[in-house]
Amino acid sequence: MSEPITPEPDAKAEDGSRAARAGPRAQTQAVRLARKTQSLDILYAIATGLSQPGSLEQLLDGFLDTFIELVDARAASVRLATGDGHTRLVAGRGLAPEVAERDRLMPAGGCPCGWAASEGGLRIQRGTAPCAALIGRPMLEPDCTEFVAVPVQYQDRILGVYNLFLDRPLAAMGEDMPDLLISVGRHLGLAIEKARLESDARRLAIMEERNIIGNELHDSLAQSLIGMRLQLKMLSESLSREDLGAARYEAKALQRAMTQANADLRDLLTNYRLKIDESGLVQTLATLVKRFRRETGIAVFFQNECQALALTPAQEIQVFYIVQEALTNIRKHSGARNVRIMLNNEGDLYTVLIEDDGLGMAGAADGMRGEHAGLAIMRERTERLPGQFVIESEPGEGTRIVLIFNAPPLAAPANAAQG
Ligand SMILES: Nc1ncnc2c1ncn2[C@@H]1O[C@H](COP(=O)(O)OP(=O)(O)OP(=O)(O)O)[C@@H](O)[C@H]1O
Ligand SMILES: [Mg+2]
Repeated sequence: MSEPITPEPDAKAEDGSRAARAGPRAQTQAVRLARKTQSLDILYAIATGLSQPGSLEQLLDGFLDTFIELVDARAASVRLATGDGHTRLVAGRGLAPEVAERDRLMPAGGCPCGWAASEGGLRIQRGTAPCAALIGRPMLEPDCTEFVAVPVQYQDRILGVYNLFLDRPLAAMGEDMPDLLISVGRHLGLAIEKARLESDARRLAIMEERNIIGNELHDSLAQSLIGMRLQLKMLSESLSREDLGAARYEAKALQRAMTQANADLRDLLTNYRLKIDESGLVQTLATLVKRFRRETGIAVFFQNECQALALTPAQEIQVFYIVQEALTNIRKHSGARNVRIMLNNEGDLYTVLIEDDGLGMAGAADGMRGEHAGLAIMRERTERLPGQFVIESEPGEGTRIVLIFNAPPLAAPANAAQG
């Protein structure tokens, strides 16, 4: 086996022979200097390896491979604290699979690993007999000379421990070796924390994306299905009355709703987002209002007082789905006879108002209660505008939803400025 911490037989060896000619004091200094250089080399190799992008598993595997080679250990492992008084073996090299299996989860205390992981500090144990007693079989055959446990630390938090199974005492590798190992533990801790943060950020982004898709489904397909269920009920009533004219009308409406649902589904499958109709927000709202009147018999007064509507497609879609959910709630919960929808802007400041003269939220009947996701989604859509969302509602006096947001004028297309 090579001697990892002794100076390399090139420039450093030459330094040594030069030092030998210069006397014993200079010789000691040269050896010390060579060891320091070696330590820096190790630290540099570890830090470089740990800064590579990759998952936590790749990071730990790379770390163990590099480190085993650098310090010439027979085996090495990394254990991370589980947060409930245990440490879990998360990566290992040179250990038999059965040993790794038995050693997987251990109480953090009562052995050098546990102490290093709970109290910190570098721990050295002669051989692994006490570990063998804990897991019920030898850790290594033949046993190693020294077993070293080093805390893996991020700032003042101990995340776990890494272990080295050495065939020669640590002291023989140089006096600064313990400090070096502690420093490597800190590098490893930093890299683990970074990998965890990145994976948390990724998970959060995925959750947010799922939430957005869930919202889109709630506001599109779920709405269409509710509408179709009502239309189907009306169709079957018309059929049982043998009113073929009305039945034909309901069947056509059902067909239109299915076409719309199909278009929404295709939008979601291709863009993961819904798109607003190309005719724009005002026209799309007018169509929605017309359908709502026809299907519910509720009178709707749609008032567009905007001077010039200049919203981005993303803003238009949020406004459209907020109004649509407000109308669905009115249909399901309010018992209202009249509804007013108003769009207004003063410069960049837009107001959207949807009010009904129904029972009010406190007095709403439970009969058509859904998942209770609608209001929360409306608020989330408002945050994405970004804007303010206000609900005013008194029992018996209806409900008013006010949406206020800022929309700076859209930039003119680049060629318009040239022309
Ligand atoms: N215009 C309204 N008039 C009376 N009550 C309302 C009105 N809008 C909402 N509510 C009440 O607020 C509750 C929450 O509305 P929300 O839209 O969050 O859920 P939901 O309509 O019950 O279910 P979902 O929207 O998920 O299908 C409703 O169950 C209803 O009791
Ligand atoms: Mg709702």
